[in-house]
Amino acid sequence: MTRFFRTLGASAAVAILTVGLAGTATAATPATPAAAGPAVSIGAANGLLRTPPMGFNDWNSFGCNVDEQLIKQTADYFVSSGLKSAGYRYVNIDDCWMSKTRDAAGHLVADPVKFPDGIKGTADYVHSKGLELGIYESAGTETCAHFPGSLGHETTDANDFAAWGVDYLKYDNCGTDAGNASTQAQYVARYTAMGKALAGSGRKIAYSLCEWGQYSPWTWADQVGNLWRTTGDISDNWASLKSIIAQNAPLSAYAKPGAWNDPDMLEVGNGGMTDTEYRTHFALWAEMAAPLLIGTDLRRATPATMSILLNKDIIAVDQDRLGVQGQVIAADATSMVFSKPLANGNRAIALYNSGDTARSISTSTALAGLPRTAAYQIKDLWTGTSTETAGAITASVPAHGTVMLRVSTRADNWAALAPSTSLSLTVATGDSSQSAVVLAGHSYPASSSIINNGKAPLADVRVTADAADGWTISTTGGNEKMALSTGRSLTTGWTLTAPAGAATGNYRVSVTASYLWGPHAKLVTVTTAIDVTVESPPPAGTSDVSALTWDSATNGWGPVEKNTSNGENAAGDGRPITINGTVFTKGLGVNAPSTITYYLGGNCSTLTTAVGIDDEVGLKGSAIFQIYADNGKVADSGVLTGADPARTLTADLTGATWLKLVVDDNGSADHNHADWAGPRLTCGG
Ligand code: GLA
Repeated sequence: MTRFFRTLGASAAVAILTVGLAGTATAATPATPAAAGPAVSIGAANGLLRTPPMGFNDWNSFGCNVDEQLIKQTADYFVSSGLKSAGYRYVNIDDCWMSKTRDAAGHLVADPVKFPDGIKGTADYVHSKGLELGIYESAGTETCAHFPGSLGHETTDANDFAAWGVDYLKYDNCGTDAGNASTQAQYVARYTAMGKALAGSGRKIAYSLCEWGQYSPWTWADQVGNLWRTTGDISDNWASLKSIIAQNAPLSAYAKPGAWNDPDMLEVGNGGMTDTEYRTHFALWAEMAAPLLIGTDLRRATPATMSILLNKDIIAVDQDRLGVQGQVIAADATSMVFSKPLANGNRAIALYNSGDTARSISTSTALAGLPRTAAYQIKDLWTGTSTETAGAITASVPAHGTVMLRVSTRADNWAALAPSTSLSLTVATGDSSQSAVVLAGHSYPASSSIINNGKAPLADVRVTADAADGWTISTTGGNEKMALSTGRSLTTGWTLTAPAGAATGNYRVSVTASYLWGPHAKLVTVTTAIDVTVESPPPAGTSDVSALTWDSATNGWGPVEKNTSNGENAAGDGRPITINGTVFTKGLGVNAPSTITYYLGGNCSTLTTAVGIDDEVGLKGSAIFQIYADNGKVADSGVLTGADPARTLTADLTGATWLKLVVDDNGSADHNHADWAGPRLTCGG
């Protein structure tokens, strides 16, 4: 894909964008700005958002139910809760704030019932609290909720926003047609029109492009606005978060002060994820120098939610004035290690476990880009604890968790810092790609390891283990050591036995290590726990797959739906599964790319299913349906498009522990509403 504007110096103070007659975007710095009319500073050159924006936006928790009272109460709460002093500044209104039609003179009108004081009155109130007001519009004929769009009205609307006292505009991508949204040049043109109008409005208005990453905005939008969405909409579930992290992480080179990648607003506190997942969300948004726009109902936020949103050490990573997005310095199938250089020479290192079991993740100060020295201080930004390392960094990271560290070559008091250690535990269940699944009445080998990364040695190291009631865990050796010097570890063998008759569910297993360090022989105790899962295979006979409980599911857009099509982003919004006019009452509605995994326990033989693109996207969309027995592919549909009738797949699953239903997006993320129509699974007795 063509990269626009890379020839234009990042430091250009004045950028004039023109769209050529042939529809090709070009950029030039005029010899004399006067020759091209009044110069306008747009994009990162507008001087705004030198650090990523922090604030609130109503969309993720309120949808269309925004009103003046909510915005004012949120502003009040920013002040009373400490969010304002923590740096949160923008209170942003999303879609649905206006009336359905413009007035006779062509101006947008705030809905008089929702906003009795108008946007101006609301902005005045927000400003009186020392905060800023944001608003929403779309670069098309209508917004995503079908209110009037700004296309062709950019100057009028930008001038009205300025007159009302608006400080921030989120500019969406709905209400477009093939004539204005089929090429990158058309995207650049639509978004530039508003960028220029804002710059010409006489008010400093931060500009957020929301084109969902459609036309690689990271390659051009720094010349147009201050941040750009890199992905489709986030939703409040783990699959969505994991997919957005994977899309945004490789874009680090494009972020800089005044121009940020935007992986969408925060879902922290909305209830669809665990606190571990929400901590990953917040930590990685900070590590990736992303906007911190709270998307929850603050009036009902729990102390756990507030403690995430108010973590000052993590906010400081996001807001660091160097303005560099953390870069992925190492990755494997279930982990990423990020390093973010900070203005004072420290590094913020994030150890992210995207997998479904706890695991150990390691890196080093050298790999993270720190200068060579004898010892480093590591501060864990979630626990607040500081330790010292000679250079190696290791942490046991829970499933879906992120350990966030600030690493420095300096320390206030080296003598007070305990050596950095890490204790990990794994249970060998035979399939490392899945959560630790065990069978009732069986025994499994397990292993724990404690490593000393500190300069100081550990003495009198002892390791014990504990499991849920009725379970046993006993050592097979190696649970004590007199001393552990730098870089040395103690590995302990264990046997874990699940009681016969253990019910399906998660069970906690933990190890605890104690040791002494330093001249005063200080005692330290550390514990690491993991969950093992008792699963039961599907019932004997033939079952509808949609009636079974999956082990895990990921989906490109919204959640996997049972017995309906994918529909839209929200849960439960699908339609009857329909492929070329044929309706199926049972099945799974997904959106490629998608993977659904079921536990079979070696007890099943055959899966038969129809597959195809759902009629809800018309002739659009394409996907490839694949069935895996463990890691071997046992059926493949080839490419199916919206024009194809349903195809039947039959897969031999004999002996497989896992069934994976995979839908590949065939290289394009759009309109891939894919149906597993009427899948039936046969298992032995
Ligand atoms: C789009 C945007 C969302 C939100 C809605 C409002 O989906 O991507 O963030 O603004 O529109 O309708």
